[in-house]
Amino acid sequence: MEPARRILGIETSCDETAAAIVLRHADGTGTIVSNVVYSQLQDHAAYGGVVPEIAARAHVEMLDNLIVRALDEADTRLPDVDAIAVTAGPGLIGGLIVGLMTGKALAAASRKPLYAINHLEGHALTARLTDNLPFPYLLLLVSGGHTQIVLVRGVGDYQRWGTTIDDALGEAFDKTAKLLGLPYPGGPAIEHEAASGDDKRFSLPQPLKGETRLDFSFSGLKTAMRQTAQAIAPLDDSDIADLCASFQKTIADTLDERVGRSLARFKREFADTVDNPQLVVAGGVAANRTIRQRLVETCAGHGFSLVAPPPDLCTDNAAMIAWAGAERLAANCPADPLDVAPRPRWPLDDKSSALIGHGKRGAKA
Ligand code: KG4
Ligand code: ZN
Repeated sequence: MEPARRILGIETSCDETAAAIVLRHADGTGTIVSNVVYSQLQDHAAYGGVVPEIAARAHVEMLDNLIVRALDEADTRLPDVDAIAVTAGPGLIGGLIVGLMTGKALAAASRKPLYAINHLEGHALTARLTDNLPFPYLLLLVSGGHTQIVLVRGVGDYQRWGTTIDDALGEAFDKTAKLLGLPYPGGPAIEHEAASGDDKRFSLPQPLKGETRLDFSFSGLKTAMRQTAQAIAPLDDSDIADLCASFQKTIADTLDERVGRSLARFKREFADTVDNPQLVVAGGVAANRTIRQRLVETCAGHGFSLVAPPPDLCTDNAAMIAWAGAERLAANCPADPLDVAPRPRWPLDDKSSALIGHGKRGAKA
C-alpha cells in the first residue's frame, strides 16, 4: 500500500495563527498529527473586532514558533513533509502575506511542492477529514466573515448556491451584541443572554423569507433590533435577555427556511444518485446550541443528516488547510508556483459573482 502523504498546513488569514501536520492515507482517510492554534481574540477584544494591523503583527511574531511546535509535536522534520499548504485567501492582506511568504520560503528551502489554498476550501473539505464524507454534499458556512451555502461536488469543484447580500451571520451577532452593550465576540454573549429570555416577546423581520433565491440578508434584522431596543430603552437585564432570545430565534427561523429550501433543491438534483444526503455545517456560529438544534431538526425533516465537525475544526485552524493540500495532492492538482500572489478576495466558486455588499468586512471565513 502507498505510504501516507504528510502535509504541513499554515493559516494566517484572519485572527488565528495556526500550523498543523496532517496525514492522508492511501484509502482517503486522514489523521491530524499536530494542530496548533494561537487565537488573537484577546489582542482584539478591546476594539470590538479584528484590527488588521494588530493581526498582521501578531502573525509575524507567532508563526515561526507555531510551525516549529507543529513539526515537533508531530515528530516530523521539514524534509519529511510531502507538501506545504498555506492559505492564500480570502482574508486580511497583511496576514495572508505573512503566511504565504513563510510557506514559500519553506517550500523553496526544502524543495517541496507549495499549495496556495483557498481558506473556504479548507472549511469545505474538513468533513472529509473528520467523517470521510463522500461527494457530493452541501455545506453551510456560518462564520464571522462568511455566510454561504455551497454544493461541494469534488476537490476544486464547488457551486455557491447562496450567500449573504450584506452582513455575515457572525458579524450580525457581533454588531447586535455591541449595540446591546454586550462583549465581543457577540455570538457567545448573545447565546448566554438568550438562555434566560423570552424568544416570543419581540417579533423581528426575516429578510428574503419566501424568496426562491437561496441568499441571506441580516442588516435589516440588526436595524430592527436597534429600533426595538431604542423604543423600550432604558433596557433592564430581562429586556436584554428577551431581545437576545428573540434575535436568536429569528436567526434560527431564517436558517430553517433558507437551508430547508437548499436541502429540497439538493434532493431534486441528486434524487437518483445520493442515498444518504448530508449537510455539513462549519464556522463559529455553528457552535450556537439553539441554531445547531434547529439545523438538526431541519435536516431530519428533509431526510438529511447533519455533519458538524468538532468545534476546533469548525473554526479557523491549519489542519483544514493541510487537509485541503492533501486532497489536492491526491487529486494530482498541479502545485502552485513560488510567485503565486495572495488573494484578499477569492470566491470559492469563481463563476459566482460577488453580490452587492457581500464580504464588506472581507476578512474572515
Ligand atoms: O469561524 P469563526 O471562529 O471565525 C471566523 O469568522 O473565521 O467565527 C467567529 C464568529 C464570530 O462572529 C462569533 O460571534 C460567532 O462566530 N460565534 C457565535 C457563537 N460562537 C461564536 N455566534 C453565535 N453563537 C455562538 N455560540
Ligand atoms: Zn474561516
